[in-house]
Order: sequence, then C-alpha cells, then structure tokens
Amino acid sequence: MPNASLVIANWKMNGNRELTKTMSMALREKLSQLQKVKIVVCPPFTLISELASQCYYDDIAIGAQNVSEHTSGAYTGETSTTQLQEFGVSYVLVGHSERRQLFAETDDKVNEKALATVNAGMTAVICVGENKAQRDEGNTWKVVAEQAKAALANLPKEKAGKVVLAYEPVWAIGTGETASPEQAQDVHAKLRTLLVEQFGAIGEKMPLLYGGSVKADNAAELFAQKDIDGGLIGGASLKESDFVAICQAAQG
Ligand code: PGA
Repeated sequence: MPNASLVIANWKMNGNRELTKTMSMALREKLSQLQKVKIVVCPPFTLISELASQCYYDDIAIGAQNVSEHTSGAYTGETSTTQLQEFGVSYVLVGHSERRQLFAETDDKVNEKALATVNAGMTAVICVGENKAQRDEGNTWKVVAEQAKAALANLPKEKAGKVVLAYEPVWAIGTGETASPEQAQDVHAKLRTLLVEQFGAIGEKMPLLYGGSVKADNAAELFAQKDIDGGLIGGASLKESDFVAICQAAQG
C-alpha cells in the first residue's frame, strides 16, 4: 500500500503563467483528498511569485530549482536564500544531475548550497544518482554514496529535519526508462542506513524520494516500497491530470 508523504514537481525550464493557474486550481480542487501528502512545486524563478500568490494554503509549498551558496554581492545571475524566502520559498533542489552535468556543479558546491539552504531555515532536497555507465560497471552504490556523503558533509544533526534526499538515476531522467521498484528500493535502503549512521534515529524519518520517469501508471508501485517516501517528478509534473494522479498514488 503506497504511503508516500512528499511529492515534488520540478518544472525545470518549462511552464508559464497559465500553468501556474491551471496547476494551482487542479491541486486546490483535489486538496481534500491529498491530506497525507505534502506537495511542493518548483517552477522557474520568474514564476515563483505568481505561484506563491495562488498557492496560499499550507499543503502546497513553493520550491526553487537552485540557489546561490553566497548570501549577497557581485554574483551576476545568482539568487540568494533570503531573496527566495521573501517570495515564500521553503524548499530548494540542490545538486540536480542537470546542474551537475550542464552547469559543472561539483560535490563541494552541492554541499555549500545544501548548507546555505538549511542554515537559512529552508529544506534542501539533495539529488544524487548514477549514470548508465556507472550502473553498468557495477558502481551504482559507490557513486551514490560518494555524492550523498559529500553533500551531507558538516551538516549538523539538528538540521537533519531540513534535509530530503532524492535518488534520481541519471539514466532514468526524462528517458521514459524507470528504475524498477526493486532497483530503487535497493538504493533507498542503503541511503537509509547512511542517514541513520550520520544522523542517528532521525535518519529513519528523513524523506527519501525517487525521481526518474515517475508517471501516473508507475507511481503507486514505486511509492509502495518500504524506503520510498515520495517522488521528484519532472515531465509528468507539467500536466495537471498526471501530476494530480501521482499525488493521489502517493496518498494511497
Ligand atoms: P523526469 O525528471 O520525471 O522527467 O524523469 C525527474 C527530474 O529530473 O527530477
């Protein structure tokens, strides 16, 4: 029985003002059925303000897709934690594989961004995942563990409640190829152990999300896995009916 508690939409560089309206209306209509699920929507920066003004209820939170590790200053094109908070942002995606690959974000930078996010009082959604070659070489856990440990370095125990880990195998992102529930659970169980080792008992409760071609028709079996607490949804978060169906699958 799926019992996932957190579903996050990552719109990437998609969407427009119209989508903020249709999505917030669709979610509002279904909200009473989704009481057990926390929903976070991460639109592009330019749509944050508009979405925040439409999602004024507590059950939907606004997330950003990136943040600067710096607090202010001469960093053209960057956005700080306080600037995001001014617009009601409470979650930040950190270390998404597209940022690692296309924007050269290193493990150290991911760690700095995670620390900046939690120190500002927001929740960091730290993304980790292996690519196809790494999986084929049998290095899935080695890669994922290295990324997770680096991202969580120097994170004090009292901030653990502000950390979410998202396992997103790169080969499954936007490809239509999903990790099987067993493949995903295998990595999630290991991540759970890693969290408990670093944070103690609270590690048992830290949300572990799966991301990578989650769709309305495969969400329920992924969410039914013991250590899968929800999903990070890309493509399927852009269509209201698909995203609502995924949130409903999380509710069980
Ligand atoms: P996808 O993207 O659902 O389109 O595979 C997931 C993500 O990149 O977070």
